[in-house]
Amino acid sequence: MIFEPRTIKGVTFRNRVLRSSVGGRMAAYDGTVTDVWSNFEQTFADGGVGGIISTTFSTNRRRQTPFEYPSLSEQRFVPPLKRHVAEIRARGCPYIIQIGDPGAATQLSLFGEDADALSSSSGFEFLYGYANRRVAMSAREIRTVIEEFRVAAGRAREAGADGIEITAEKGYLIHQFLNPGLNRRQDEWGGTDEGRFRLLEEIVTRVREGVGDDFLLGIRLAARDFNYLPYANFILRFPWTFPLRHHLFGNDLPTTLGFGARLKQLGVDVLHVVTGTGFPGPKGNPGAFPLREIKLFFNATRHLSRKAAARATLLNLVPERIALPLLSIGWREQAGVSLEEAEAFRRQVGLPVITNGGYQSRSDIDRGLSTCDFVSMARALIATPDLISRYRDGAGQPEEACTFCNRCCARSATSPLGCYEPERFGGDFDRMVQQILAYNTPVRVPPPQIAPAGAAEAASR
Ligand SMILES: Cc1cc2nc3c(=O)[nH]c(=O)nc-3n(C[C@H](O)[C@H](O)[C@H](O)COP(=O)(O)O)c2cc1C
Repeated sequence: MIFEPRTIKGVTFRNRVLRSSVGGRMAAYDGTVTDVWSNFEQTFADGGVGGIISTTFSTNRRRQTPFEYPSLSEQRFVPPLKRHVAEIRARGCPYIIQIGDPGAATQLSLFGEDADALSSSSGFEFLYGYANRRVAMSAREIRTVIEEFRVAAGRAREAGADGIEITAEKGYLIHQFLNPGLNRRQDEWGGTDEGRFRLLEEIVTRVREGVGDDFLLGIRLAARDFNYLPYANFILRFPWTFPLRHHLFGNDLPTTLGFGARLKQLGVDVLHVVTGTGFPGPKGNPGAFPLREIKLFFNATRHLSRKAAARATLLNLVPERIALPLLSIGWREQAGVSLEEAEAFRRQVGLPVITNGGYQSRSDIDRGLSTCDFVSMARALIATPDLISRYRDGAGQPEEACTFCNRCCARSATSPLGCYEPERFGGDFDRMVQQILAYNTPVRVPPPQIAPAGAAEAASR
């Protein structure tokens, strides 16, 4: 099953494992893609995945996701992107461009900017974003957002992508409208399920008009919001919304299945089903809570606002032995963390579904594919970019497998993208640095040879 090609909307994926969005600081500061970015994407194309979904390309000029992530907010970004997308596709790997707007979840900026606070409703949130408070968008600002998505989608097509994915999850702007714990508007953009869905509906409608009926269009959607995770954040999210279940849980599965059915009517071709709200989060990135790396991020952004300074100070003050167990509540490794929800979408909505979250072993991938059309993976592929080629050649899970420590996620906004888990390299710090640098260079460097676990100790005896 895993190596069976599958065609959707005229795009043939050579197998059923997709590289899920992986963002790193690889574009130029203004959002132009670079040779480094292209080389990184080509590594996965050569590693045997069936297709690649890009990191989030920002649709808004001010709200990058974050610095040195690519953008489609201006026409000038198209020519270099076109050249690089052709290089990736030449490796036989379809390329889907994800577009999104982080809204008030914007992680960093040159200076604190008003645009980075814009959201569905006003409110306070401790962990995500850096603005002191979220600020409700005006109807006019909402119209601008819709237009920006339409234009960015058209640019993705012009750049030669095989399709687009709109991110409506992760606690980003569209999700800030969908999620009843965050959207407290009483106008046409909130109040009811239809009201909260309206922004996504209008974006999908306008994007479809813009790219045409023959272009692959996917939506990345949270099937359940799990607003009570991470715990620290849900307690500090003000004002609390009523009924309390909206605050605690956000959207439930029946509600999002309704969204899925509507998306099908609107002409969406594929659904990428995930769970949770916010990045990184225990449902989106099942595994360990990366305390030290989050501290690094908080310290690196503390100059941006009073909230950013306060959260950094707090985390620096509380001893790790107290902070770690508290902040780790709800974080645990789980293969196919959203599989149950993805299956429900496959069954009830009937669109092709991509399942995501915590996959690595061949048997877990097979389990995901027994009910869904595709499995998408990020962290396990950062650890082993040619994992799928290895599976094709009959190999089992590599010894240097991903440990789901989540250090890569928490570092993605401050450091070069790569695996920061020394354990995987048998404690060999140099090889870890080599792999990180091999990901962040404009020319292909052979990946460092990783010795079997225990080899380092054996060599020193
Ligand atoms: C370093 C890193 C960067 C990521 N960047 C993005 C992104 O730009 N957009 C997005 O939708 N998801 C992003 N993700 C989330 C992944 O696409 C994926 O959903 C998540 O890591 C869970 O899948 P996994 O268990 O296979 O890692 C990122 C994940 C990692 C580890």
